Formats: sequence, structure tokens, C-alpha cells
Amino acid sequence: MSKKLNQIEIKKRVKSDSIVSDLIVLDQVGSTQDYIFENLDSLKDGAVVIAESQSSGYGRMGRTWQSSYGKGLYMSMLFKNVFSSMKYSGFTMLGSLSLCYYLRLEYGFDFKMRWPNDVIFEDSKLAGVLANMKDGVISLGFGVNINQDLSELPDLATSILLITGKEIDRNIFIAGFLNQLQKDLNDWEAESFKHLRKLWLDFALFKGKEITAITRSGTIKGIVEDITEDCGLIIRGDMGYKIILSVLDLIKIR
Ligand code: BTN
Repeated sequence: MSKKLNQIEIKKRVKSDSIVSDLIVLDQVGSTQDYIFENLDSLKDGAVVIAESQSSGYGRMGRTWQSSYGKGLYMSMLFKNVFSSMKYSGFTMLGSLSLCYYLRLEYGFDFKMRWPNDVIFEDSKLAGVLANMKDGVISLGFGVNINQDLSELPDLATSILLITGKEIDRNIFIAGFLNQLQKDLNDWEAESFKHLRKLWLDFALFKGKEITAITRSGTIKGIVEDITEDCGLIIRGDMGYKIILSVLDLIKIR
């Protein structure tokens, strides 16, 4: 098993201007997303909850998030004071783009963001991001496969260990990522959608490519052109017409 999560080890590396207020490290939890909503009254804006394992971690569309003990990152962050241009739809994208940026900076590989919430490396999923909103507060959840080997991962998934061949110190990883996320939140606040789009142009897996999207209202085929301010995907269909695919409509994309 890799080195255990340690609150002090993480805290001492998180920059002092960070919005991270509390850092709660749990051994076992159902889901860090649910933990946030079950403890809303006692948690402050910026609270971060991390667990060694989750018994019922989940992702978009209620898909299971495999959370083997002591191997991955299972983390949720609470946003109580959402500033005006921070659109709910932007959180998932900002989270996954910020993660891509950090991973590329740290490990130098060509990580991509698969709209709207996945981090991909060579066709395999490395991480997923999930934003849940209730009564105006948002919990932003991150699942990253860090030190898992193949037997501990679902099909078509990979981990940082498998990509780099090196065991990662999760405490250092988490602190570094929280610092990167803070930087991207600041830039998002300052530049609004411009910042999201800049990151998307850098990291988008499908930009300029032909995709097939399975949606609630049918199948869409076309070339990905851009994103909208609401984080929809702008697709140019076969006949030259433009389709905007919303996150809420999407079932699967390839
Ligand atoms: C996805 O790929 O659809 C998103 C996966 C998000 C998983 C993380 S793990 C921490 C947090 N708690 C959960 O139950 N889900 C998110």
C-alpha cells in the first residue's frame, strides 16, 4: 500500500492564500460528495474532504467510481460563495482542465480533457470530475487513479503509476493540485469564460475531430468546433448545420 494520507503533510504545502479552509482526511466514507452535503452546516466555504477509500463513490450519470483503499485520490471541495460569473456548468470543466494542466506540468505526458469531465491518457481514463449543486452550494469531486495497478482499475482506465512507472506520494500530489486549482479559480474569476476557453483549446481531446455523441434525444455526428459560455459543445454536423450539445443531454461521447 502507498504512503497514507496525512493532513499535516498536505496542509504544510498548500499556499497560504488558498481558499482551502478545512482539510478533512477520512479513512473510509460512502462518498466524499455525500459527506459534504450531509455536513453542510458545520463545513466552511473551501472545505476539502479526502478519503482513503469510498464504499459508494460515484460519477456522472450515477456510474460507480472504483475507490480501492489507499491508492487513489477521492476528494470533494465545497463552494458556498460562488461568484457571479462562475456558472455551475463551468465547475466540472474548470476542475478537469485544471487537473490536466497540473498533470502535464508534473509528469510531462500529453493528458487530454474529454468533454465534459474526464482526464484521458491515450484512450484510457485517468480521472473524472463531478460537480453537484444543492441549494446554491456546489461540491466539486475529483477521482484520480494514482497508484492503482491494472487489477485495481475498471476496463479502459489507467493510473499515474501505470503511465510513469513511479509510485506517487499522494500528499504531495494533492497539495500541488490544490495550489493549481486555486490559481485556475483566480484566473476564472478574473477572466471569466476566456480562461476556461483558453484551457479548453489547449487540452480538448476532440477539438477539430469527428465525434459521435449518444444523447438523451438521439445520436449526433459531426466535427467539434468550440465550446459555448455555458460549456456546451459546438458541433458542425454533416450537412453543415451547427448543433450545441449540452452536458445535461450527453450520455456518452467517442
Ligand atoms: C466521473 O468520471 O463521472 C466523475 C467521477 C468523480 C469521482 C469522485 S471520487 C470523489 C468524489 N466522490 C464521489 O462519490 N465522486 C467523486
